[in-house]
Amino acid sequence: MKRDLLQILDFTKEEVLQLVDWGHRLKNLQERAIPYRPLIGKTLGLLFEKPSTRTRASFQVGMYQLGGDVVFMNPGELQLGRGETVADTAKVLSRYLDVVALRTYTHFTIEEFAQHASIPVINALSDKFHPCQVLADLITIQESFSQLEGLKIVFLGDGNNVASSWVNLAARVPIKLTLGIAPGYEPPPEVLQRAKEEGAQVEIIHDPSKAVKDAQVVYTDVWVSMGQDRERQEKLRALAPYQVTKDLISKAHPKAIFMHCLPAHRGEETVDEVIDGPQSVVWDQAENRLHLQKALLLTLLEQI
Ligand code: CP
Ligand code: NVA
Repeated sequence: MKRDLLQILDFTKEEVLQLVDWGHRLKNLQERAIPYRPLIGKTLGLLFEKPSTRTRASFQVGMYQLGGDVVFMNPGELQLGRGETVADTAKVLSRYLDVVALRTYTHFTIEEFAQHASIPVINALSDKFHPCQVLADLITIQESFSQLEGLKIVFLGDGNNVASSWVNLAARVPIKLTLGIAPGYEPPPEVLQRAKEEGAQVEIIHDPSKAVKDAQVVYTDVWVSMGQDRERQEKLRALAPYQVTKDLISKAHPKAIFMHCLPAHRGEETVDEVIDGPQSVVWDQAENRLHLQKALLLTLLEQI
């Protein structure tokens, strides 16, 4: 039975923690330049409708480091762009590839692809979720704090795909998640509802200074996600109070780290002195995408 990762809720708590554990191990092997190539002969497909720097490069490099190959496809250059259906594309690509990662505008496209594919399907970002990002962030958080459980993580700004993935994570690992999000920009009610039913501790605090109080992790993301430019001006005004400044971060836990999935819009959701400052772990965060995704590929290809 093939496994997919369309959202974090597809994995159990034990599977999430095992992925993170393997991420650390693979990072250690890489740092010691010890080759580990269990995926020789396997091919990963990358089907990306939207731009990407980190996700594309880290999946590609990760697959090479594990001994496998990668095929990158721009949907506009496939017959998909001329009307071949998602279902037919999924069936055909399943005959060539061993695993596929998709980055799409609508989450429904990934669900439809997964339904018709006979190989594991990974969500490499959709409008609803970005599971690979938040799973990789757990490696980075563990590098700063010995444990995940009980940490207060505050997500500031827009209730977007990354925020929703944090909500899902809170249903798997007992963190204290606070959403410091402007009224009207919260994650979708069904995402919050399901996570709460599955035991997530999530609170929404609209006042950013109160939201960051005692937080060990202060996290933000762009205010306008890819494909959502129409709302831009109105959103920038509504989210302005949620900008992560030095002053705001000083109200968090004294050992707080600053995280951002990147790309950053410096001067909007945060500023140079925070992103380039002593509490920022954003470059480690970007690196850890590589290690977590290698662990994910090994898991889905049943090598772990
Ligand atoms: N954080 C992230 O997913 O970055 P890219 O859009 O560059 O892949
Ligand atoms: N929320 C952002 C994340 C980019 C990695 C977007 O979807 O554009």
